[in-house]
Amino acid sequence: MEMEASVLAALAAVILAFIFLVLPHLRKQSSSQDDRRRQLPPGSLGLPVVGQTVGLLRALRANTAEAWLRRWASEYGPISKLSLFGLPTALLVGPAANKFLFASTALTAKTTTSFNSMVGRRNIRELAGDDHRRVRAMMVQFLKLDSVRSYVASMDDDVRHHIRAHWDGRATVAVMPSMKSLTFDIMCTVIFGFGRAEHAAVRRELSAEFQQLVRGIWAIPVNLPFTSFGKCLAASRRGRRTVAAVIDEKRAKLESGHSSPSDDLMTHMLAEGLADEEIIDNVMFMMVAAHDTTATLLTFLLRHLDGNRDAYGRVVAEQQEVARSKAPEEALSWDDLGKMKYTWSAAMETLRLVPPVFSVLKRAVEDVEFDGHLIPKGWQVLGAMNMTQWDPAIFPEPSRFEPARFESPIAPYSFVAFGGGATVCPGNEFARVEALVAMHYIVTGFKWKLADGCDGSFSRYPLPSPAQGLLIDIEPMDTQPPQVEQAPPNDLQESRSRSEWCTHHSAL
Ligand code: HEM
Repeated sequence: MEMEASVLAALAAVILAFIFLVLPHLRKQSSSQDDRRRQLPPGSLGLPVVGQTVGLLRALRANTAEAWLRRWASEYGPISKLSLFGLPTALLVGPAANKFLFASTALTAKTTTSFNSMVGRRNIRELAGDDHRRVRAMMVQFLKLDSVRSYVASMDDDVRHHIRAHWDGRATVAVMPSMKSLTFDIMCTVIFGFGRAEHAAVRRELSAEFQQLVRGIWAIPVNLPFTSFGKCLAASRRGRRTVAAVIDEKRAKLESGHSSPSDDLMTHMLAEGLADEEIIDNVMFMMVAAHDTTATLLTFLLRHLDGNRDAYGRVVAEQQEVARSKAPEEALSWDDLGKMKYTWSAAMETLRLVPPVFSVLKRAVEDVEFDGHLIPKGWQVLGAMNMTQWDPAIFPEPSRFEPARFESPIAPYSFVAFGGGATVCPGNEFARVEALVAMHYIVTGFKWKLADGCDGSFSRYPLPSPAQGLLIDIEPMDTQPPQVEQAPPNDLQESRSRSEWCTHHSAL
């Protein structure tokens, strides 16, 4: 009996302690979880694991991703939640979102799981803090203004060589493959110090592997021999073996005193003591980052100029003026590039309409707020930064190709084709010089128009990829500037280019 009473008393004490001590604490905890849930961005995480991945990937391939993202953003606002590749993701859209994306120290860059497996986990996009700064500084050493200035003559030589080998005497050219091969060669020469003859086989081998690899950037990571990811992973393994062999060759030269760290990026990284794995990862990343992006810019610049005779006429006039000031066979100089302002405006307008990189991925390294909503630590962030480039409130008549837009200042955080902040593209000056040198020789050497049956349409893999590689008919340029149609009504030109592009010109 006594025993029963003491058990009851103990039970009562436990219940009272629960009511007065534990319950308020639990209530507080659950209400803070509710608050947290309330603060999460609006949107939906969709079905477990799959989320919105398939929908967005399908839209990318059909080139309707802009419409897909616009619909999502118009329903949920500048910050929303969705689920991509099995991860909860905050989608950010608009100039304020771009500013936050580039400035916030709570966000660090990341790549997709599939890209990571192909390129390697020590690539610059996966590094943070001091590690990121260290590797970036090595790259910047070879990409800064002074270095790029010294590459002009070598780029000039690569472009002329390419044109002689792949354009002269031809009636038709597939622009995208041609530009990929050109930009790959330029990068191999100036960044990796590959000789044209000495490393011809390595260049071709790597180029082929990279064409395959780049298709897997957004692939669903299922490693089977017949999946996109499986094929890209195999290409990456072959590419890595080739790069590893080049590292051995460079190390031998460095150790025997036959090269110096200032010769090329790879030798510089070796001299700085980077582990081979880290060199391979970053060389692999650089190859993807540098050549496909600039090749896309050049391809779509030719496409847009074909549809816009007024802009085309101005580019030709500008380039021919530079050509007239040169002796035959004299290479372009840094000063010549400074005279190509309109051509660069046309290139930027192309980057606005068809940005090679349409979004950046980041990861929240701590809880962070944007626009009153919480992005919890560990979430993925998809910055659909280029949505501002097609916003009619910022760029009136956004589907119109109008290089003159870039002759006046552009609203901050609106044109972001090269990203921003601590991870802004360090290759932007390299890309500018490369594009201008290539355009000079194409524009002064040839006239072009889309080949019959080539409609200029494109999809994304995730870089824009034109149907048939953008086939064009070419003719050698006569010495006279082409006849610019007499004051063609701009909207008529546009209606021509728009009707050709209408189903595909979502510009993503
Ligand atoms: C038209 C050509 C190019 C475009 C549109 C482009 C665009 C971009 C974008 C959007 C980013 C991400 C920026 C961010 O996170 O804020 C990036 C990063 C990067 N790009 Fe480019 N890029 C181009 C050419 C190049 C070239 C030619 C090189 C090298 C020779 C290069 C090297 C890099 C590197 C190393 C990064 C990583 C930077 C970091 O995470 O710190 N890019 N690029």
